[in-house]
Amino acid sequence: MINTHTFLAKLIHWTFIPLYAYGIFKQVDDLSQLEDPSLLNFEILFATVFLVIVLLRYFYMKDTPTLLGAHDELPKGHLFIAKMVHRLVYFSLIMLPTTGLLIAGLVSLETGGVEIAISIHEFSADLSYVVIALHVGATFYSRFKGEGLWNAMVPIWKETEKNNSNLVSKLEVIEKKVYKEIEDKFIKE
Ligand code: HEM
Ligand code: HEM
Repeated sequence: MINTHTFLAKLIHWTFIPLYAYGIFKQVDDLSQLEDPSLLNFEILFATVFLVIVLLRYFYMKDTPTLLGAHDELPKGHLFIAKMVHRLVYFSLIMLPTTGLLIAGLVSLETGGVEIAISIHEFSADLSYVVIALHVGATFYSRFKGEGLWNAMVPIWKETEKNNSNLVSKLEVIEKKVYKEIEDKFIKE
């Protein structure tokens, strides 16, 4: 069984982080800045490159099994949550540049609706913070449990063995209940 992500998957995963951070930190502070044509053009170029990279990544990764590094077979409910979070990450990362480009289009055409586009743009940025924080939190939690997922994507501070502590056993009892609920509600056999 393949239990690690490909070199290319890891390369894209880790080089994307500075691109995302740059996009977030260089953000436009207010609409009037877009009156400068060189800034507007740069924003359009950046958003286009960002969008193309996210789409290429999505198509490269879409057939890769989720949580493929796991030592044991994972409950369907667990995979369901992980897939949902990954999809929401992609959704927010596609919405960010798309709504940015929409703002640029509306500003250039001098039509109405810019405020609505900005609200959706800001919502996309907030959604990306929440789902990426969830993703990173879940990864550290899995590292703590020693499930194997960490080693499949993260090149440093490798897991050595499964954590068999009492705390993990108790947490797993709670997790199983949550997964069972999800399977009963959302996953049809
Ligand atoms: C901007 C920050 C991040 C984004 C947008 C992101 C996004 C993603 C996405 C979409 C996946 C699913 C595979 C793929 O399509 O590439 C993934 C996998 C993964 N990420 Fe991240 N990630 C980020 C940061 C991190 C950090 C900081 C860690 C750990 C410290 C981490 C650990 C992992 C691991 C272990 C996987 C593999 C999960 C699996 O096998 O399904 N990620 N990441
Ligand atoms: C990948 C590309 C982009 C990223 C990552 C990004 C990121 C952000 C972030 C994080 C914010 C602040 C949101 C908040 O406060 O919650 C923001 C605001 C904004 N962005 Fe973008 N943006 C991108 C592309 C664009 C483009 C192409 C345009 C238009 C040319 C644009 C125009 C704006 C405007 C007008 C605001 C609102 C400023 C205000 O508060 O009035 N963005 N962007």
